[in-house]
Amino acid sequence: MPAALDQHLPRDWWTSAVVYQIYPRSFADGDGDGIGDLRGVLDHLDHLEHLGVDVVWLSPVYRSPQDDNGYDISDYHDVDPVFGSLADLDEVVAALHARGIRLVMDLVVNHTSDEHAWFEESRFSRGSDRRDWYWWRPPREGHTGGEPGAEPTDWRSFFSGPAWTWDEATGEYYLHLFSRKQPDLNWENQQVRQAVYAMMRWWLARGVDGFRMDVINLVSKPATLTDGDASHAVVDGPRMHEFLHEMHQEVFAEHPRAFLTVGEMPGVDVDEARRYTDPERQEVDMVFQFEHVDLGIGPGGKFDRVPVTMPQLRESLMRWQTGLAERGWNSLYWDNHDQPRAVSRFGDDDPVWRERSAKTLATVLHTLRGTPYVYQGEELGMTNLPFAGPEELRDIESLNHLAERQAGGASVEELLPGVREVGRDNARTPVQWTAGPGAGFSEGEPWIGVNLNHTEINARAQVGVAGSVLEHYRALIALRHDEPVVARGGVTPLAMEHPDLWAFGRDFGDARLLTLASFTREPISLPEDLLDGWREADVAISTSPEAAAGVQDGGVLLGWESVALVRRG
Ligand code: GLC
Repeated sequence: MPAALDQHLPRDWWTSAVVYQIYPRSFADGDGDGIGDLRGVLDHLDHLEHLGVDVVWLSPVYRSPQDDNGYDISDYHDVDPVFGSLADLDEVVAALHARGIRLVMDLVVNHTSDEHAWFEESRFSRGSDRRDWYWWRPPREGHTGGEPGAEPTDWRSFFSGPAWTWDEATGEYYLHLFSRKQPDLNWENQQVRQAVYAMMRWWLARGVDGFRMDVINLVSKPATLTDGDASHAVVDGPRMHEFLHEMHQEVFAEHPRAFLTVGEMPGVDVDEARRYTDPERQEVDMVFQFEHVDLGIGPGGKFDRVPVTMPQLRESLMRWQTGLAERGWNSLYWDNHDQPRAVSRFGDDDPVWRERSAKTLATVLHTLRGTPYVYQGEELGMTNLPFAGPEELRDIESLNHLAERQAGGASVEELLPGVREVGRDNARTPVQWTAGPGAGFSEGEPWIGVNLNHTEINARAQVGVAGSVLEHYRALIALRHDEPVVARGGVTPLAMEHPDLWAFGRDFGDARLLTLASFTREPISLPEDLLDGWREADVAISTSPEAAAGVQDGGVLLGWESVALVRRG
């Protein structure tokens, strides 16, 4: 293990860490085929080191038919040729470690690809030794398999259509909560769990530093599968805590190195999250919860949008802050590869306000309590791409949704606004490295459109440039490392009735921090009592010198600006 990695970290070392997510397909293309890869990652390590992040979470690079861009894995022990080789991955691990950065792999074990050998054996015959590794069920009573309505339950897949696919050869259906090429593993079967733990140990032995566990709170299904809302049935299932504790014992408990485990958990609530992350229970270090990113879902589902106000967003995140104050730990994120770009969604991506609002979103997230995640390009203030039409989309979720709704009579014009607003392709346009052709992402034809605004928004224009979004992220990451009050302090929500001001206090020992963030274009006159005792305080960070002066001299917070003040005693 290279010397740059501190091997004597406390168990909860991640409480002062910042994680950077790489979605490899869109990060950087090292071989010119238009698809990002591990050589591309190696080409941009300076960027990560400059930012100062502690951990990289790498979205899946395993062997995969790429039906869901790698979240459909056909071999857990190899790297897909599109991303490189195992040797490249070893090189990434070593190069990150040499810079003091840890690597967390994506762990996708709710399902495999239908091209994984386990599933191929399972589907071979009803008598196969691996039949029980997946969820096989006969057609509904009184129905003939393969006919509409014959599925064992009425569950719908998260990617449209039924959650069951008919297998003609063996006369049964298999369950897939996601695409038909992502059959769900049966975690009730102990051999399945042991195979997963063995695979995890294999990766740890290779030098990786933990796992981000894909939809992990869906792996425990109820004993009998019945009609009704599938999410309701499968979220936080009956044996979920038992399985995670068992995984902890089997994989992490005896291991001498410092790890990070984060469970992606759609539908989890604060109380359940506290149980998952209570250190005494030994399950996972933190969870990704979805409450704040699910706020805009309308009655017709994800693409049916309802407006979300800043106070709603604030109420949700601050409730998680106080809910996990005594026990458990938050992960903090505005976006990732499944969400639209943060500045377009929660900020203001009009060119006049874009940078300020991107920085202000960062100020809020990075001065809260929890472990912040930066999604590639977020640190540049990258925006959504206004996709012109279906031909520009690549994501299976959006494409299946359009196909299903169009078959039901809806027009593309009706459907496009929802997809533009929250479609996952927004996050997957190439990282904008330069103003040059292809944004410096690839010398070939990129697999998905490059945002035209790369001529303005790109890394080269921001690295080392005072006032840039990137340098603001860098300063916030350094602040978390340097100020225990940011990493460890308690949180007090403030001015919660204010429509546009997001304010909170932090405290740790004799240190106090006050974050003030504007979510509007108009200047805000700060409530007098909020500034009591703070006018002489030091500025820990601000989106601009004018913003800091406005607060301290005039009691005014300028449009979309933010300031964090710090004092002792
Ligand atoms: C998670 C991933 C997402 C993927 C899904 C199925 O939500 O983040 O990208 O499509 O799981 O694996």
